[in-house]
Amino acid sequence: MKFLRLVLFATHAAASPLPSSVGSAGEIDSRVSQLLEGLSREAKIGQLQQLPGHLPAAEIESAVRAGRVGSLINVTDPARLRELQRIAVEESPGGIPLIIGRDVIHGFRTIAPIPLGLAATWNPELVEANCAAAAAETRSVGIHWTFAPMIDIARDPRWGRVAESPGEDPFLARRLCAAMVRGFQGDDLAAPDRIAACAKHFAAYGAALGGRDYNTTWVPDQQLWEVYLPPFKTAVDHGVATFMTAFNDLNGVPCSGSAFLLDEVLRKRWDFSGFVVSDWASVTQMVPHGIAADDREAGLLAIRAGVDMEMATPSMAEHFASFIDAGKVPPERLDELVGNILRVKLALGLFERPGPPETAVYPPEMAPESLRLAEQAAAESLVLLKNDGGVLPLPAGSKVAVIGPLADAPADQLGTWSFDGIAEDVVTPRAALEADGAAGSLASARFVPGLAYSRDKSRDGFAAALEAADEADVVLFFGGEEAILSGEAHSRARLHLPGAQEELLAALHATGKPVVLVVLAGRPLVLEPVLPLVDAVLYAWHPGTMGGPAIAKVLRGELDPSGRLPITFPRAEGQIPIYHGHRNTGRPFNPDSWSHIDDIPVGAEQTSLGNESHYLDLGHEPQFWFGEGLSYTRFRHGEPELSTTELRGGGTLEVTTTFTNTGERSGHVVAQLYFRDPAASITRPVSELAGFRKILLGPGESRQVRFELAAEDFAFPGPDGEARLEAGTIEIMVGTSARDHRSATLRIEP
Ligand code: NOJ
Repeated sequence: MKFLRLVLFATHAAASPLPSSVGSAGEIDSRVSQLLEGLSREAKIGQLQQLPGHLPAAEIESAVRAGRVGSLINVTDPARLRELQRIAVEESPGGIPLIIGRDVIHGFRTIAPIPLGLAATWNPELVEANCAAAAAETRSVGIHWTFAPMIDIARDPRWGRVAESPGEDPFLARRLCAAMVRGFQGDDLAAPDRIAACAKHFAAYGAALGGRDYNTTWVPDQQLWEVYLPPFKTAVDHGVATFMTAFNDLNGVPCSGSAFLLDEVLRKRWDFSGFVVSDWASVTQMVPHGIAADDREAGLLAIRAGVDMEMATPSMAEHFASFIDAGKVPPERLDELVGNILRVKLALGLFERPGPPETAVYPPEMAPESLRLAEQAAAESLVLLKNDGGVLPLPAGSKVAVIGPLADAPADQLGTWSFDGIAEDVVTPRAALEADGAAGSLASARFVPGLAYSRDKSRDGFAAALEAADEADVVLFFGGEEAILSGEAHSRARLHLPGAQEELLAALHATGKPVVLVVLAGRPLVLEPVLPLVDAVLYAWHPGTMGGPAIAKVLRGELDPSGRLPITFPRAEGQIPIYHGHRNTGRPFNPDSWSHIDDIPVGAEQTSLGNESHYLDLGHEPQFWFGEGLSYTRFRHGEPELSTTELRGGGTLEVTTTFTNTGERSGHVVAQLYFRDPAASITRPVSELAGFRKILLGPGESRQVRFELAAEDFAFPGPDGEARLEAGTIEIMVGTSARDHRSATLRIEP
């Protein structure tokens, strides 16, 4: 056994303050104290309540006038918001402006790809710019707060909310989280084009049993600190203004009542200075969870745990006064909760400018730059998974048949959680390809859907589609799943292409024409049955408003496909969960000892010798690996070169690798750095992503890609959450996916 030396270093560092031009953290805190002094107990309690915009208008207005509400969700009309803010400031007893929230998940009116698609860009700067564009549209109508980013690690594509997630990897999720928080908030929450972000759902919501939404999670502390919590710590480090609790129970405690998460971790360890909102009715849902006898008890649990604001249900506000009177909650607790909310309201500049300007309109205009960013994000999210015989890019002058249920489905293209997106704004692949046909960059594009929607089982449209295929040089089949098949409460157990899509693809394959499958979906689908039927696969997620032109440009080769998978694709549902950062096991998969189910002799005797961790019928390999994605060109990379082979605590390491474009076209490569700690005091993943760079290389061009890592990047948390840097060797791997890489060895001496 190797010698171990543990180095503990701080995970309790002070959080970044809320970025605001209104004043320093100290100045804002003293204004909070002054405000609290002037508020009655009732006015304070009112601040803890968020009401939904679907309630009758008169009910909302009277609650605002009476000071019984601190926030609204889902009110978007600027004139109404101005009037409600006027009532809050001029007529309510406390005179505190409202904070207005909305789910702005991947755009407000201009819709970018779903978050899983944004993750596939591996381009945090582009993600940040898209979030900034969304923030500007949102704030312009008088909404100050988005319930994003969702940074739940998701390793189960059955879970409908995988669409909203950053995928399976904590490092990629942290980079995306930082980009999204920066994009929404900028460096000044009070700016007229920025909004407060919300890190959600705290915590481990993505670990729902069987991928069934809202389900129980059992996550050992080790895995919590290693996988599920790091993106949330990143959010705090970047000054995120708010957190949202998760619906699930975690190790037996619903997250909205978890003092461990909300108090011990978020406030005490991470020093979070913003406020925590519950999820929709997640406080009262502690009753069906079976941890509170009634709403009153649920409210008490949430208050004690550290929920500051309750979304939709009133169990905290309704009972708070009686909790204080009965000595169940000290009066100072109320000041703490309200203080957290006021701090964010002040930082947002709501006291100076509560409502939107008179000129505000809903829906807001889409700026040309926002549309350009949405198109770039859609283009960079496209992952080329198969391209046999170089069928793509399409030769100039091709005659294409545009077939499939998602070629011209504007609302579906927007994806889940796009409430303020407008189907009429969407440019579909059909529209973009027809325009290319008219402009001459394609000879012609003939649209015959074949199926009316993704679940359509009717074969009535097949004949017309096959006829169009016969007349074309190449078939472009736009399949996948409608937006409504992913997202909240939309988990699926079967992940094949739904409806009669597989049958139609088989019929199109039988025409002998090359078939390109473009998949629009909210999750990784099981493609194994259709892969032999198609020559190329381009994975497009739900690509948003500008998905059509982005896809057309990549199909025609005007742009290269530069997306890479942010999540492993299973070959079959039975392989789930399957992800790159798994443990090795004591009997790792060994292709030489694998007997396929068909090769096992009938009547064979039971033996465990030579058996390894795999499935008899599917082995061990996924369909597509994390980080994977083809290009129209080819790349080669050298060995990683290390600036030192022995790294001491506090030191830094440079890793340099040369990437070469060996093809005839320009293309983006996503250089990825992983590492593995092969012998530690606890088992470690076989691969941990620790760096990536997306670079454009011209034909024949070589470039050195440099990564800089601190010794502490090789540390790992123990079950107590404290990071440990251990002596020993580390394998550094650089390449183009979690499978394709070359390695070098480093020694750590803490
Ligand atoms: C429930 C969802 O879980 C959450 O993500 C969302 O922000 C709220 N509803 C508000 O719509």
